[in-house]
This record gives sequence, structure tokens and C-alpha cells, in this order.
Amino acid sequence: MGTITASNSLLLHLCFYFFCLSFGKAADTITFSTPINDPQALTSNNGVFRLGFFSLSNSTDRYVGIWYNNRGIPQESVLWVANRNNPLKGGSGVFMVSDDGNLVVSYGQNQVLWSSNVRNGATPNASARLLDTGNLVLKDNSTAATVWESFRHPSDVFMPTMRISTNVRNGEKVQLTSWKSSSDPSNGGFSFGMEPLNIPQAFIWNNSKPYWRTGPWNGHTFIGLPNLNSVVLDGVRIENDNEGTWYLTLALAGQPLFSYVNLDPLGNPTQRYWDDEKGNWTTYRSFLETECDIYGKCGAFGICESQKSSICTCLRGFEPNNIDEWNSGNWTDGCTRIKPLRCDLESGDDKDGFLKLERIKVPDFAEWSESDHLENECENLCLNNCSCIAYAYDAGIGCMSWSQDLIDIQKFSRGGINLYIRLPRSELEKKNITVIIIITVATGTTVLIAISLVFLLRWMAKKRAMKQKGEEIRVFQVHAKSPVRHMADENRKEVKLQQLPFFKFQELAAATMDFNLSNKLGEGGFGPVYKVKIEIDASSLNPSWTHFPP
Ligand SMILES: *[C@@H]1O[C@H](CO)[C@@H](O)[C@H](O)[C@H]1NC(C)=O
Ligand SMILES: *[C@@H]1O[C@H](CO)[C@@H](O)[C@H](O)[C@H]1NC(C)=O
Ligand SMILES: *[C@@H]1O[C@H](CO)[C@@H](O)[C@H](O)[C@H]1NC(C)=O
Ligand SMILES: *[C@@H]1O[C@H](CO)[C@@H](O)[C@H](O)[C@H]1NC(C)=O
Ligand SMILES: *[C@@H]1O[C@H](CO)[C@@H](O)[C@H](O)[C@H]1NC(C)=O
Ligand SMILES: *[C@@H]1O[C@H](CO)[C@@H](O)[C@H](O)[C@H]1NC(C)=O
Ligand SMILES: *[C@@H]1O[C@H](CO)[C@@H](O)[C@H](O)[C@H]1NC(C)=O
Repeated sequence: MGTITASNSLLLHLCFYFFCLSFGKAADTITFSTPINDPQALTSNNGVFRLGFFSLSNSTDRYVGIWYNNRGIPQESVLWVANRNNPLKGGSGVFMVSDDGNLVVSYGQNQVLWSSNVRNGATPNASARLLDTGNLVLKDNSTAATVWESFRHPSDVFMPTMRISTNVRNGEKVQLTSWKSSSDPSNGGFSFGMEPLNIPQAFIWNNSKPYWRTGPWNGHTFIGLPNLNSVVLDGVRIENDNEGTWYLTLALAGQPLFSYVNLDPLGNPTQRYWDDEKGNWTTYRSFLETECDIYGKCGAFGICESQKSSICTCLRGFEPNNIDEWNSGNWTDGCTRIKPLRCDLESGDDKDGFLKLERIKVPDFAEWSESDHLENECENLCLNNCSCIAYAYDAGIGCMSWSQDLIDIQKFSRGGINLYIRLPRSELEKKNITVIIIITVATGTTVLIAISLVFLLRWMAKKRAMKQKGEEIRVFQVHAKSPVRHMADENRKEVKLQQLPFFKFQELAAATMDFNLSNKLGEGGFGPVYKVKIEIDASSLNPSWTHFPP
């Protein structure tokens, strides 16, 4: 196919296809002598993917890209764009193997808009083929070596068999970059990639600032993604190649060719699949689910819990840096230590201990030492190093420790691991109640959640101190979709109002693991009775019980 002018190119385009089909010739390859002239296109051998020129709605700008070819999937589902930052503004474009052996998008007299930019002074003895996976691969014919591939230069879509990677030795990265907007494919502010230093994690950055983080990879899953619970289902894997490159791959179950993860212009990573029945894309999962998933939402030493009405609290032993900003919901300044650590003390009332937090997305900047340590050794490792301010243990990782500001901590209702925060003993003993509550769930035609019977208040530490502080705990009430039924009057009289805390339905659901049978004590007049153990913190801090060195 020689040069095709803009006016008759459509006609020739059709002829081209008749020609190709009728002679059974594969139309999935570009060579020096067979370029693609707008609006020609290539189709992968399996018929699933198409490569060619396209425009976005309401625009005449032309781009070269890859999209789905069949099942009526709209062309706007663009998977890859070559000249994303440099659209063709007019004239007729060509996508070809240039005489230096690179893939280029050009127009007019060799005006180059985009180039694969990998071969220097080579011969045009190269060809590019659109594979059945949607990967466009440029090969050197003489050596058969792959010199460039679109999967190593992705746009905003992560497809099965693609690998997001970072090489820790030479810094080479393969990462997604969002579009600027849904009508502008040029580089946006968000990128998605791997950060394998220390313990591998995946990140989304807003420009260069972290925006979202998976938490550490433990060999099976990411600690910070409790919903990514099945490797088999979600097929997420991290591997390295002994040459310093770490790869993140994603195998999608079902119809992998018609499923992908897209990093949208607002930085949301969303996994979609094509639903043939609906004839539309369906969102399988959005990885950024709550405000708490945004990196560092609560600042340093803050902890985020999406089910609370005010999502951020300071860790116990810490107070807001800027109390006015904090109370107005600007949490980015974070929290600061109230009382200094006393690593110098070997014994005594103020020596350091650890506060245990459960179901946690551990903070960023975890440090890890090669040696295999057992869980019970982590505590001493941390205690014996005065720069260690927190530790955690995961069977797949071993001991993790922290010596910098603790940032991006989240408390989950399920999943996560235990995090132990170093605090002076006086802080540990201060606010510390464990309440065991027995709740009843009244069942009816609608799920009528009413409540409550007996409180077993177990004051583990200083009850008197608590009373002096005049803790105000409010009437125990459970919210649900259905009408709220208050506890029976006689019960109400028996229990002092001041001792009745206030819970949300979600909190109780979480505490009973969605009213799991294993937490059921029996049936009463109101319905089933469940046992839950809820940690109550006097100053509305959520952490649980204290834990001292032996
Ligand atoms: C395209 O232009 C039409 C008319 O100018 C307008 O109604 C429509 O909203 C535009 N669509 C997009 C996606 O911008
Ligand atoms: C390179 O190889 C491809 C596929 O085998 C072939 O179609 C093409 O003609 C070759 N190109 C050159 C310049 O020999
Ligand atoms: C192009 O590649 C073929 C092998 O596919 C080789 O035989 C031929 O010599 C090469 N031509 C040039 C000019 O390098
Ligand atoms: C991304 O960063 C820019 C500043 O670089 C900021 O204006 C914007 O609000 C950030 N976007 C989000 C979603 O946080
Ligand atoms: C496909 O789904 C999107 C939202 O997910 C919706 O806006 C759009 O109208 C749907 N298109 C069709 C053809 O149903
Ligand atoms: C949040 O507080 C910091 C200082 O504490 C201030 O610099 C910043 O402008 C505040 N942000 C907003 C959105 O008010
Ligand atoms: C203590 O921890 C710091 C920070 O993690 C580390 O650099 C240092 O090597 C540790 N010291 C000892 C004696 O292990």
C-alpha cells in the first residue's frame, strides 16, 4: 500500500480489507512497506483488538491507538494511545516503520508526531505486530529481538499479561499514567506503579506525591487491601527477576481479554469487565473505596476509620498539631506526641511499652531486616532500638519496624494486621477500658434491630481516674435501616445512663462479623443474642488494650 490521499482513503481502506480478507493475509503487521494510512486499521489475529487512527467525541484531533474490535464495544474504550501528547491536527496521518526502524506517527513530509524512539541508525528491517493480547510489538527482523512493545509503554489501562514494573538498579519503570480528562488523552497528573524498596508496595501518585498505597506485599496479598482476599480470584502477583526488576501482574478470571484496570483522570483505579448481556462495561471493583484510602488522610500519627462519623483520630498518646484545623476536618497536619518516650529507662513507671492496634493497614516506610524472626522476637527488636517507634509482624514478611513519622494508618473492619505502637507506660495505662457487651438482635418481618441488655464493664486499669475525668458515655442505641427500638424500660433503669455508650449499626455488625453464628450466645425473648468485645476509649480514641513488655 503506497500513499493514500485523504479524499479516497476510506474507499481504499475498505478495498484494503477486502484484499486482505480474500487472500487470507494477516492484517496484524506493519512493516516499512506496509504502513497504516489514516483511516486504515489493523486487527489482531483473534479479532479482539484493533489498531488505527481515532478521534474522541467533539474533536477532530487524530490519535493512533488500540481499542476493542468486536462485541459492539464502543470505540471510546481506548486501551492505548501512541501520540497522546501530540495529536494530529489535520492532514492525513501515517503510522509506520520509519527508515531508522522505529515506529512513528507522522504526517506530511515526514513531520513526526510520535516515535518509539528506541533504534538508532538501524535499518528499516523491522516489523510491528498487534498480538492477540492487545500488545503491539516491534521486532528486529534480523535478530528477531523485541525492541519495543506497547505493554512496556502503557497509557492508563492495565491489561492481563501486562507487567507494571520497577527496576531497583537502573530505576527503569513501567507505569500507568492517567488521561488529563475523558476527552484529552494527554498525560494527566496521576500515575500507578511499583515501589519495591524495602517491602514491595504499589502506589498511585498525584504528580510526585503519594495518593494511594496498597500496603506491603506479603507474598500472597497486599496488607492494605483487605478486599483483595483471594489470589486465585484476583490473580495479583508480584515477582522479581534477580536482575533488580519487580513485576506486578494481574490475571483476570472469567473473560480476561475483556477486562482491565483503568486509572481514570481523577486518580481512581477501577477494574471493569465487559458484560455481554448488558452490552456495557461493569465495574468489578474500585480500589479507592473510602476517604481513608487516600494516602495520609489523617496526617502523621493519625488513624483513619471510614466507619466513624469523624474518620480521623490521633493515635493514643498523641494530640492534634493544630487543634482548630483538626476539629474543622483538616487533618493533614497530623498529630504530635504528648509525652516523650523514655527509651533510656530500664524500669519504672515511665519505661516504654506497646499499644496494640488490631486490623490495621500498617503505615508507610516500613523497615525490614533480612533475618527470619519469629513473632515474639519483633517486640524485643523494637524495644532494644531507641529509634524504633512501632512494629508489626506478618507471617509472610516477618518483623516490620518503623522509625519515621507514622503516616497512612487505617483501621479496617476486617483484614489488616496488628500494629504495636511504642508509648510511655503512663500513656498506656491512662485511658483503657474494655467493655464486653451482649447485644440482642430482634428479628421480625423487617430486620428490626433493637438492643441491649447487660454491660459487663471491666475496668482493667484505673477506674477512679476515669471517674474523675467525668467520662460521658451515652445511651446505647443501634441504628439500622429499620426503626430503632430502644431497650426495654426496666433494663434502662437498671443501667446508669452515663455508662451506656453509643454504637453504630456498622460497628456492631463489624464486631459480630456480620452477626456471625460463631458469636451467637443463644436466643432470648428479643431474638438472637450475640457476644461482642468492643474496645472503648474514653477520649473517643479507638485503640484497644495495652500490652507491656514482659
Ligand atoms: C459535544 O457537543 C455537543 C454539541 O456541541 C454537546 O451537546 C455535547 O455535550 C458534547 N459532548 C461532549 C462529550 O463534550
Ligand atoms: C520482517 O518480518 C515480517 C514478518 O515476518 C515480514 O512481514 C516483513 O516483510 C519483514 N520486513 C522486512 C523489511 O524484511
Ligand atoms: C532483514 O532480515 C532478514 C531476516 O528476517 C535477513 O535475512 C536480511 O538480511 C535482513 N536485511 C537487512 C537489510 O538487514
Ligand atoms: C493532585 O495534586 C494537585 C496539586 O499538585 C492538587 O491541586 C489536586 O487537588 C490533587 N488531586 C487530588 C484528587 O487530590
Ligand atoms: C453504560 O454504563 C454507564 C455507566 O456505568 C452509563 O453511563 C451508560 O449510559 C451505559 N451505556 C449503556 C449503553 O447502557
Ligand atoms: C489545613 O491546615 C494547614 C495548616 O495546618 C493549612 O496550611 C492548609 O491551608 C489547611 N487546608 C485547608 C484546606 O484549609
Ligand atoms: C535501629 O533502627 C534504626 C532505624 O531503623 C537502624 O538504622 C539501626 O541500624 C538500628 N540499630 C540497631 C542497633 O539495630
